[in-house]
Amino acid sequence: MFELSGHAALVTGAGQNAGAGIARALAAQGAAVAVNDLVAERAEAVAKEIVAAGGRAVPVPFDVTDREAVVTAVSKVKSEFGAHVDVLVHNAGIAADFGQGHFRTLDPSRWRGPVEINLFGAMNCVSAVVDDMCEAGWGRIVQISSGAARVGSDQGLSLYGAAKSGVEGFIRHLSQELAPSGVTANTLALGLQSNVAGAATEMFAKKIPLRRLGTPEDVGAAVVYLASVEASWLTGQILNLNGGSVTS
Ligand SMILES: NC(=O)c1ccc[n+]([C@@H]2O[C@H](COP(=O)([O-])OP(=O)(O)OC[C@H]3O[C@@H](n4cnc5c(N)ncnc54)[C@H](O)[C@@H]3O)[C@@H](O)[C@H]2O)c1
Repeated sequence: MFELSGHAALVTGAGQNAGAGIARALAAQGAAVAVNDLVAERAEAVAKEIVAAGGRAVPVPFDVTDREAVVTAVSKVKSEFGAHVDVLVHNAGIAADFGQGHFRTLDPSRWRGPVEINLFGAMNCVSAVVDDMCEAGWGRIVQISSGAARVGSDQGLSLYGAAKSGVEGFIRHLSQELAPSGVTANTLALGLQSNVAGAATEMFAKKIPLRRLGTPEDVGAAVVYLASVEASWLTGQILNLNGGSVTS
């Protein structure tokens, strides 16, 4: 079950934390993985680690907000793997300027970052891979989102929440358009991850019913399911992976 040999995956923002966990998990199931990150050294290190563990991976450093760079990289991956990308995981979602702060305090110059990386990043990546998926009659699109898309807070996340809500809407509609072509599109909405350090994080962790923060392995396992052949009847859904902190 959940065998991905013969499939080619592109994971964005995969140079560390959740994205690296996703890349490792897909590779462990047999997928050839294109490891993207804005920071080339991070992408290279994760790809190297996967290859050392016996998997197939190539680093593909590019900025997901740069449409031309995305298109060029995807076509390079196709010739390198001898197969088109049929699993896309758009995980890059935290811009260099996270845009954190109460909305009244944020200068308009900071509004674009979270929207560009989440929404335009998703559109750039989807548009670069979707035609091949539809022509082949099989594909998996997985968008990484956050509970902040649907639950309001006073933590200064209005821009981030808006961007994540926007991309969830994009994927919801995309799923309906692509379903007749055998391509599924789902969202994995994460709760707080273990890489976020700090006293406030510890306080949040204690309030999570399963009493711990999420790990790259948790995220990787859920993505493996969403990307699998077995998940062929699942599309247009938001799967909440959050230790039970918000129920649905
Ligand atoms: N960390 C959390 O607690 C948390 C909670 C909910 C949802 N999420 C979501 O999970 C995903 C991963 O989060 P994380 O904490 O692992 O992120 P992270 O910031 O630790 O790692 C993301 C990687 O993305 C890369 N990146 C940044 N901008 C990029 C760009 N324009 N193009 C390509 N790569 C780029 C970074 O260099 C970094 O290596 C994000 O979509 C985030 O919104 C995270």
